[in-house]
Parts: sequence; C-alpha cells; structure tokens
Amino acid sequence: MILKGKKGIIFGALNDQSLAWLVAEQCVAEGAQIVLTNAPVAFRMGGGIQRLAENLNCKAIPADATKVEDLEKLIDEATETLGGKIDFVLHSIGMSLNIRKNRKYTDLQYGWMQKTMDISAMSFHKLMQVLYKKEAMNDWGSILALTYIGAQRTFPHYSEMAEAKALLESFARSFGYYFGNEHKVRVNTISQSPTRTTAGSGIDSFDKFFAYAEEMSPLGNAPALDCAKYCISLFSDYTRYVTMQNLFHDGGFSNMGMSANMMDNFNFEPAKEEETVEE
Ligand SMILES: NC(=O)c1ccc[n+]([C@@H]2O[C@H](COP(=O)([O-])OP(=O)(O)OC[C@H]3O[C@@H](n4cnc5c(N)ncnc54)[C@H](O)[C@@H]3O)[C@@H](O)[C@H]2O)c1
Repeated sequence: MILKGKKGIIFGALNDQSLAWLVAEQCVAEGAQIVLTNAPVAFRMGGGIQRLAENLNCKAIPADATKVEDLEKLIDEATETLGGKIDFVLHSIGMSLNIRKNRKYTDLQYGWMQKTMDISAMSFHKLMQVLYKKEAMNDWGSILALTYIGAQRTFPHYSEMAEAKALLESFARSFGYYFGNEHKVRVNTISQSPTRTTAGSGIDSFDKFFAYAEEMSPLGNAPALDCAKYCISLFSDYTRYVTMQNLFHDGGFSNMGMSANMMDNFNFEPAKEEETVEE
C-alpha cells in the first residue's frame, strides 16, 4: 500500500477505458483517499464517473478545467472532503476541436486552436496556479500530467495536439521550478504509448499509430494499466526527487530508429543485376 495516508485529486476519468479511471482504481487499491473530477458535460454523458465514485467510495466533483473559478471551488471542496492538503494530482485532460471537426493542420481554425490549447495545456497551468496560490499541496507532493511523443516528433493527424502537448510539458518544467523551491512539490509529465481510449481513438488512423508503435517498441506498447501503475510510483515516496521531467512510458519507442519487426514489413525483391552486353 504505497499511497497509504495520501490524498489526491484525479482529473479525466470519462469511462472505464480512460487512463485516469485506472489510475483512480490503483490509487485506492494502494491506500489513498481520492476525489474525482471531470468537466460538467462528462457527468451528463452517463459514461460512469458517478459509478466509479460509488465503487471507490469517493466524491466526484464537476469542474471545467479551463475555468479558474471552477478549479478554485474544486480545490476548496476537495481539501474539505479529504480533510487536509493534497499529496498528489493527476491532470489527464486532452481534446482538440480542430481534430474533432476534421480540420486539416494546414487549414486550422484559430478560435478552435485557442480552445484546444486552453483545454489541453493551459488548464494545467491554471490548475497548478490555483493549487499554488491556495497553498493546497502538502510538502513533497506530486503533480503529474499525461502527454504524448507528438510533442517532440511529427506524426500525421496529431495536428495541433503536438503544440498543445509541447506547451503542457513546458508548463511542467517551469512550474516545477516554483513548486519545488517553495513547497518541495514535484511536477512531471508521463509520455504514454498510443492507448485505446476515447481521446486516443479520436485521432484519425489511430490503429495505424498503434500498430506502428507496437512494431517499433522492443517491449511493445505500454498498456493502460501499466501506465496507471507508473503514475502511482510517481505519487509515492519512492520518487521524491524526480521533478521537471518528461518521462517516457512507451516500451522503448522514443529511443528507436528502426526495428527488425518493422523492417520485415518492407520485403522488397533484391534488385536484379543488370546484364552486361558483351561487345
Ligand atoms: N490514449 C492515448 O493514446 C494517449 C497517449 C498519450 C497520452 N494521452 C493523454 O492521456 C490523457 C487522458 O486521455 P485518455 O486517453 O484517457 O482519453 P479520455 O478521453 O478518456 O480522457 C480525456 C479527458 O479529458 C476530459 N476533459 C475534456 N475537456 C475537459 C475540460 N474542459 N475540463 C475537464 N476535463 C476535460 C474528458 O472529459 C476526458 O475525461 C490526455 O491528456 C491524452 O492526451 C493519451
């Protein structure tokens, strides 16, 4: 029970495929007390955040992560419910309006792009700023967000989410400095393999992304449950000096150039030697 006595807030459990859903279950299994939260619309979608809350015997509080006033209310209510300051927080939020509305990267609608940045990246800064100002984190606490290697490398169809994730990862580094100095709180991002969830499957040709990463990674794609377990390790006291990092949880994908598995997909006929015509 490596989280025994710890209190946390988990953002982003939409349905039982959500990475946050599995993290929430693992937190409770490891002895933590948690509060769940998601956008108000997720509560109306019947995906089951209330069902998860019942199963885990915890409270679920609606909050739009782009609204500072919602976040302020959430943090007040969560600290009251949990009976003290917070030890860990998971930001597991991502959404692209341009992807959802099938706009190509070369024809983006900028109003939607701003909204994408707000939901997928600025919400992380807003959350940390609210926690910081309210001094809501316990010393040696841990704040974590989920990201994807599209922040560093270009993939077709990942579109504006590439920039959103780059911004998210940068916020972890920058706020990690202030949180570390003032409160010994660590801030990291986990860069997860492609995973079949609502957000993941929203990317065009997701199955090809998934299959490509599977072929390239020596360990194969990291499953959702293993991602949840990695999150738990980062909330625990076993990782107290890890901060301002983007941590790849991807079966080795990020350090690969080419794999033998992938090469087998290109079985070209050996080039025939040109016949030389003797004079
Ligand atoms: N699935 C993958 O392949 C994959 C890979 C790497 C990283 N990630 C990241 O993992 C995180 C979780 O995604 P997931 O794959 O579990 O999908 P998901 O769709 O289950 O989770 C996304 C969550 O964001 C929430 N959300 C959207 N707008 C919000 C708002 N305004 N306020 C609060 N919450 C809001 C949704 O309600 C949902 O619960 C995302 O940051 C995603 O980019 C996913």
